[in-house]
Amino acid sequence: MTEFALPQYVRQTINKLESNGFCTYIVGGCVRDLLLKRKPLDYDIATSALPENIIRYFPSSYPTGLKHGTVTVIVKGHPLEITTFRTDGIYSDGRRPDQVVFASDILEDLKRRDFTINAIAWSEKEGLIDPFCGCDDLSKKIIRCVGEPTERFFEDSLRILRAWRFSATLGFNIEQKTVEAALKLKDRLGAVSAERVHSELCKILLSKHLEILLDLINKGFLIKYGLKNTPNTLISLSKIENDLIIRSVTFAVLLEQNKSIERADTFLSLLRFDKRTVSLTRLVRKIKISFEVPFEIKLGIAKYGLDAVLCAASIFFMETGVNAPQKVRVIANSGECLTLSQLQITGDDLMQKGFPEGREIGILLNKLLLHVLSHPEDNQTEKLTNLAENMKK
Ligand code: CTP
Repeated sequence: MTEFALPQYVRQTINKLESNGFCTYIVGGCVRDLLLKRKPLDYDIATSALPENIIRYFPSSYPTGLKHGTVTVIVKGHPLEITTFRTDGIYSDGRRPDQVVFASDILEDLKRRDFTINAIAWSEKEGLIDPFCGCDDLSKKIIRCVGEPTERFFEDSLRILRAWRFSATLGFNIEQKTVEAALKLKDRLGAVSAERVHSELCKILLSKHLEILLDLINKGFLIKYGLKNTPNTLISLSKIENDLIIRSVTFAVLLEQNKSIERADTFLSLLRFDKRTVSLTRLVRKIKISFEVPFEIKLGIAKYGLDAVLCAASIFFMETGVNAPQKVRVIANSGECLTLSQLQITGDDLMQKGFPEGREIGILLNKLLLHVLSHPEDNQTEKLTNLAENMKK
């Protein structure tokens, strides 16, 4: 029988429910990840206990999704979602069931889940409960809907993006019938909120399999956001630093340059990326730097900031194959003065030396920074004071 070493707070929670007569399992993503020998991000618990029972047995519990039978309990400082076995009712909006009906056993509960690899439960007493051969699909590396794919996608159209997301993050193939159903129901994706699409897209952008992102776009799943097709060069996004801001900005600006979308910043904003990422994108669209010239890189960092220059360098890398981000990192880590805050003189110092308060001080500091970018050895308070005196004359 399969054994899992669960964290103590999870075991303790399951024991409490079981000792009160309720059948209880870990289920979904955590079982999938344990079987793949990955560390689960969180543990979801499914139980025959009704929400009111869960609340009774766990004093620090929060009814986070009572309508769906979910209660979040805090055990030893860890939040745990406990959901009563359920079988979902009719979905008229393709997002949430009109009503949730509690089920009497785990089999009913597993039937309503999206993919076979996510429809496995486990308990210490019974071991794995795997009615849809999810373990088999895990070993064959296949994403397959539980039962009839059109029904699963009809219930929640976000599952279409989830299929491609799991394919990208796990490196699995999507089974043909599941692909066909997704294509048939792709228009329903329009009803899914941009926040939910955003969360899936971020996970794909950070995955190793960017070819899955290409496939997702080329199949028209992001058409609502104005994205119909995309250049093949996008695959090289996987060579770019695995950082969400850098990858999202690079992705959007490249799409704009290839005329796949109209504007990178508007595209990211529609997809609910945060204000910082959107304004960085607006800036990066305008940056022109010759990455062969170290001085230009320094000047760029001083003018636009390191993040913006790294994004511009990543775009250059994807277009030319020249590893400009590495050049930028070497310069940024050299310890040389590249920003006003690294200058060995401040506005206050200048005022103490008799320079008048006001706009002029800012202009002077920028001139000093420009000088230090090409003469790093001059970044010393005394030298900078003398230089400032000469610049004033
Ligand atoms: N689930 C589902 N349909 C959805 C979302 C979730 O059937 N649209 C089920 C799946 O069984 C899934 C479980 O609920 O495994 C938990 O969902 P979630 O926490 O969103 O995803 P995980 O599978 O845990 O994966 P990850 O944490 O990596 O996102």
